[in-house]
Amino acid sequence: MLKPTMFNELAIALNDQIQAVNPVAYEMLSALGKRIYFPSKGILSQSGEAKRLATKYNATIGTALRNHEAMCLPCIMDSLPGLTPNEALLYAPSYGQKPLREAWKAKILHDNPTLENLPFSLPVVTNGLTQALALAGDLFLDPGDAVLLPDMNWDNYLLNYSDRLQTNLHYWTFFQDGHLDIRAFAQALAGYASGQKVFVILNFPNNPTGYTPLENEGKALADALLATAERGVRVIALIDDAYYGLFFDPDCMKESLFCKLAGKSRNLLAIKADAATKECYVWGLRTGFLSFAIGGAEADSPLFTALEAKTAGLIRSTISNCSALSQRLVAKALTSGKFYEQRAANVAIMHERCDAVASTLASHPEYREHFVAYPFNSGYFMCIKVLKTTTAKLRRLLLDRYATGGIAMGDSDFRLAFSCVEKEQIPDLFATIYQACKDLA
Ligand SMILES: Cc1ncc(COP(=O)(O)O)c(C=O)c1O
Repeated sequence: MLKPTMFNELAIALNDQIQAVNPVAYEMLSALGKRIYFPSKGILSQSGEAKRLATKYNATIGTALRNHEAMCLPCIMDSLPGLTPNEALLYAPSYGQKPLREAWKAKILHDNPTLENLPFSLPVVTNGLTQALALAGDLFLDPGDAVLLPDMNWDNYLLNYSDRLQTNLHYWTFFQDGHLDIRAFAQALAGYASGQKVFVILNFPNNPTGYTPLENEGKALADALLATAERGVRVIALIDDAYYGLFFDPDCMKESLFCKLAGKSRNLLAIKADAATKECYVWGLRTGFLSFAIGGAEADSPLFTALEAKTAGLIRSTISNCSALSQRLVAKALTSGKFYEQRAANVAIMHERCDAVASTLASHPEYREHFVAYPFNSGYFMCIKVLKTTTAKLRRLLLDRYATGGIAMGDSDFRLAFSCVEKEQIPDLFATIYQACKDLA
């Protein structure tokens, strides 16, 4: 690792900015997180200066222009009738387009009114939520660091944090006797000593279970994290809100867990990773966001500007910037005045499917001889526990004999995405799984 004195002067300035507000936040950074900076004095700043001053000839930018407009191909623009070539085709800043960043922050505040008085950074635009998770890891994790996550989780965490970043993954039991096992979570946190760093991942609505904590459970999770931070453990809480808003039980916690953590302790950095992906039904547009909050950092804190700059520096050094076209489309949708109504219509469809799963299972007690459902109340998925065969055999038979697909997760858990099955098809889907289980028993 470079000695701090060998860091680029821009990295040193950002590190000083962070340390001046909260030295713990600086200590939480990985070696790369400490080293990285946004190259604000290179080509980008020269281009920016030329944009203002080079009114005669601006020969700084790596784009092709004609009459001050992107030199487009009509066969591309033919597919984009609502956009000008400049809107659709020019580069976006590494931080993301400012109107989109502001519109997403406004959406976060609309959905999470508690955050109105809690300072957090302006979201940086990422290439989908997957990149937001990778960037959070790059900023705060070194090989060997501890990452705590539930035993039922999205498998890409393993690839990212274990295989790519070489951290040590620790698991807590998500469900015990049909309930969220908050005690297991608190016990796992108790294993970290004062001064140690732990990176905790929480994702609700959860993939693969489709479970969101009830309000009191969410409070208990947050309390356990805050008590751990107050004990001197350096807690980085990564809140993965991929499926935010898909709540089908009136008792689900409706605001992000980020609200219960933001700015509450100087030892707790809360990171909100979210995305247009599922919230705006635009999976392939690859538009995600990363926002930060920590005790001691007020609104517009230089600590936030520094973390945003480091995030943008990582983006600049890997993918340079995210799709401008995607950003423009998402920003237009968010500010269209129709977003919330249209979102609610889709949530209602997903809600009906979730209810159809629950009523199918309730009206077929015989299914319980072969499989039982884990709790579910939100999101895209639900999981069953298979009792008399393995999920590998079940998956194979379902495909080969019944042309039906699900995901085998370990030996006994089988994930079903009701998000992509019509409500009317759900009873038959479960009847088919039951039949396949009987065939195998
Ligand atoms: C829990 C969770 N987090 C993150 C993602 C990634 O989302 P994106 O497609 O925006 O990268 C997914 C997608 O399946 C997910 O299930």
